[in-house]
Amino acid sequence: PLVNTVEMFKKAYEGGYAIGAFNVNNMEIVQGITEACQELKSPVILQVSGGARKYANHTYLTKLVEAAVIETDVPIALHLDHGNSFELCKSCIDGGFTSVMIDGSHLSFEENVALAKQVADYAHQFNVTVEAELGRLAGIEDAVNVSAEDASYTNPAEVQEFVERTGVDSLAIAIGTSHGAYKFKPGQKPQLRFDILEEVARRLPGFPIVLHGASSVVPEFVEMINKFGGQMPDAIGIPEDMLRQAAKMAVCKINVDSDLRLAMTATIRKYLAENPSHFDPRQYLAPARTAIKDMVAHKINTVMGSAGKA
Ligand code: G3H
Ligand code: 13P
Ligand code: ZN
Ligand code: NA
Repeated sequence: PLVNTVEMFKKAYEGGYAIGAFNVNNMEIVQGITEACQELKSPVILQVSGGARKYANHTYLTKLVEAAVIETDVPIALHLDHGNSFELCKSCIDGGFTSVMIDGSHLSFEENVALAKQVADYAHQFNVTVEAELGRLAGIEDAVNVSAEDASYTNPAEVQEFVERTGVDSLAIAIGTSHGAYKFKPGQKPQLRFDILEEVARRLPGFPIVLHGASSVVPEFVEMINKFGGQMPDAIGIPEDMLRQAAKMAVCKINVDSDLRLAMTATIRKYLAENPSHFDPRQYLAPARTAIKDMVAHKINTVMGSAGKA
């Protein structure tokens, strides 16, 4: 069966690794991710955004994930990514998700506390775990649109009160990551605020921390996209060694979506450019699915450190 994140995070914290949380939108993505996890014996979080749920529909997504549970024997959590209301969180909890994020990071501290507590109180009746967020990531994605000027690092002085008052199970923090494929300006040196992470961990001993916006925007795939008709100049992500460092610390969940999108899109562009007469979607979706699988295997080995932990 699907599991919540309690056991996963407890082991990850103690073992100095992180669980990969990968966004899913369709069958090939679910299959690619979970095949890699099965081969490497890694636990995994499959996460669905509000946008993904609109795109693919709640029933289709939950049934695809249930199929993955049948086809594999690694722990799988089904998580709502960036829930923006109590109602959306409740709908996912009632509909079989085992974990939800309530993202009140754009609200005032008091409003964020009230909303996160409302979701945690409801979720915990059903053994569903809750992630909240303090601090604002910069980013360019539709659902989580925060300009660089509006972004602000998490204030470590606030985390203990937030967790105590809300009862949430994990906390996403802002230490310099951001959503999408353009995380730093051209010429800017990628940096993460490990000092903030350390201070948060000191104030919340043993408590699982989450990193959003943690794709590395793997150059191989950006180059492939640009080579085969795409236009993604200056795409840049978080260096993998920094993420591995965070995974060794209090970070127990690392979110990756953009790297999967890049791998899938690059592979399809290349396939269609090289096979202009092909028109059976299976012909380009099969290598795209393999590219997702390889990317997830790479993340598990290089970033998460979660191989063999299932
Ligand atoms: O953080 C956002 C995830 O990458 C999901 O993106 O809202 O476009 O599905 P989305
Ligand atoms: P990336 O855009 O860096 O993959 O981040 C994904 C994410 O945080 C999903 O919530
Ligand atoms: Zn996110
Ligand atoms: Na960790």
